[in-house]
Amino acid sequence: MRCVFCLLMSLVFAAPLYAKSPWPASNGTPPANWAGAVFHPNFEFPTIPAAVQRLPWDGVDFRAAPEVYLKAVLSYILEGMDTTTWDGRTNTVRQWYHAPWMHEGFNGREFIHGLTRERSSRKGELGAGQTRCYQNWSVAIANPAGGYAYGQVWGNGTALPDPRNSLFGQGTVFVKLLFTQAPASEVSLLEGAPEWEANIHDPSDLYPPNSADACPSNRGRRFPQKVRLLQFDVAVRHDAREVAKGWVYGTFVYDGRIAGDDAWAKLKPVGLAWGNDPALTDSAAAKGAQPKESIVLSDFGLGRHFGRGGRMNGPIDNQKSACLSCHGTAQYQSIAQVVPPDDAPEKDVLCWFRNLPHGIAFGYGPDKDHACGAFPKTGVVSTDTSLQIAIGLKNYAHATGAHLPTAPEAIPSEMQVVEARRAARALENWRALSVVRRSWILERTVIDRGVLIMPIHRGGTDLSDDRFTPEESNGRTLDTK
Ligand code: HEC
Repeated sequence: MRCVFCLLMSLVFAAPLYAKSPWPASNGTPPANWAGAVFHPNFEFPTIPAAVQRLPWDGVDFRAAPEVYLKAVLSYILEGMDTTTWDGRTNTVRQWYHAPWMHEGFNGREFIHGLTRERSSRKGELGAGQTRCYQNWSVAIANPAGGYAYGQVWGNGTALPDPRNSLFGQGTVFVKLLFTQAPASEVSLLEGAPEWEANIHDPSDLYPPNSADACPSNRGRRFPQKVRLLQFDVAVRHDAREVAKGWVYGTFVYDGRIAGDDAWAKLKPVGLAWGNDPALTDSAAAKGAQPKESIVLSDFGLGRHFGRGGRMNGPIDNQKSACLSCHGTAQYQSIAQVVPPDDAPEKDVLCWFRNLPHGIAFGYGPDKDHACGAFPKTGVVSTDTSLQIAIGLKNYAHATGAHLPTAPEAIPSEMQVVEARRAARALENWRALSVVRRSWILERTVIDRGVLIMPIHRGGTDLSDDRFTPEESNGRTLDTK
């Protein structure tokens, strides 16, 4: 006789142990007969901040020892991780989380691994052997400090998200794994690279006959195909005087030419960046000027700069930009292009390379109607270099028609650095912002008469003038009158 109880129990145990998600996981659902992996985002954000811990890279000078710093970050990320699935929930050392609302649209998360579509790699960009344009897709996760901030912005899905809470605490780590459809037969770096199946676009649509664009963003159907790990991005919230925006961005490339069986030991650092080099113009770079706030360790024999003016960037990324420049535009609402327009004069291009302090929004890019960094009357909030928060909020507002708060009272009509210094010295005149929930962060945001925001260290003791050098002030093109 059949064991009905056993049958029931096997059903119970076979059922996935995933909590019901308050937001959709992916763009499209698996077909009925799908037997492969299915993406389950981790939106169960911690509601109490992660305890401040000593991190393996604390005390490592990323400028003097960039490789040591990046390897310490990589080991932390790999700790306890199932590198087959990258499901942060099964990690017994620490949990990893996903940013909500990345499922929407043409580039939205696919259903197998939650990958979003990235910029495609043009013929030759990944080496002379690359014969044509290939799609790239990626997934990003955040550690508990990052997950806590996700929760502060997004809540648990029962109330409107609040862009004003987009501030990540010291020790936040983001990781982003970028996969390419390019094959190892054309790109030798990809030999033995970790492979995933992903529900991505029909590649034949990438080569429409007679198309003027050799690498278009096609809008074809999706079906499961193989992709290979090529680039591995990290972003670390790091408070140090020299870290202009409060973040160190770094990246690795998978190099299959390295001997050995452990694929994850073949991630080789490209370099890191802690600032934008606000004064480095394209023409100065063409004459040989080098970035001072980026360190590039290798070009992997590809024979090109990955970032503008030699700034640190990855081989998959847009060469007209660089990690911190593109991420510096992360704001709600998204009122600026992420990359400078092709026809922008040099002085305008530098708008995208300002070293805005941690938590300050990019504002508008320069155009006929706006000055660089101007703010709209409705306010705009920095999403603290997180483009997934910026895009997720934009998707959410677009799909639901919701008006999300941008805290006009917290938005400077114009930022005045000289004024900031004066006000900072008279702390008792400042009133704390209504962001009590952020007070655990080692730095607090204060506002003076609604005209200015600047981050200060707890207790206001570290407000020395040298946090803002005259160069930086100029770099920010702020009106100091
Ligand atoms: C031209 C723009 C651009 C450049 C350059 C760029 N990124 Fe991104 N990045 C994005 C966008 C857009 C997203 C969000 C969309 C997505 O993940 O699909 C993102 C997401 C990320 C995330 C996930 C966290 C988040 O919310 O932002 C990390 C980490 C990241 N990038 C790291 C890097 C690093 C490291 C570099 C340089 C090696 C880099 N990025 C260069 C545009 C850029």
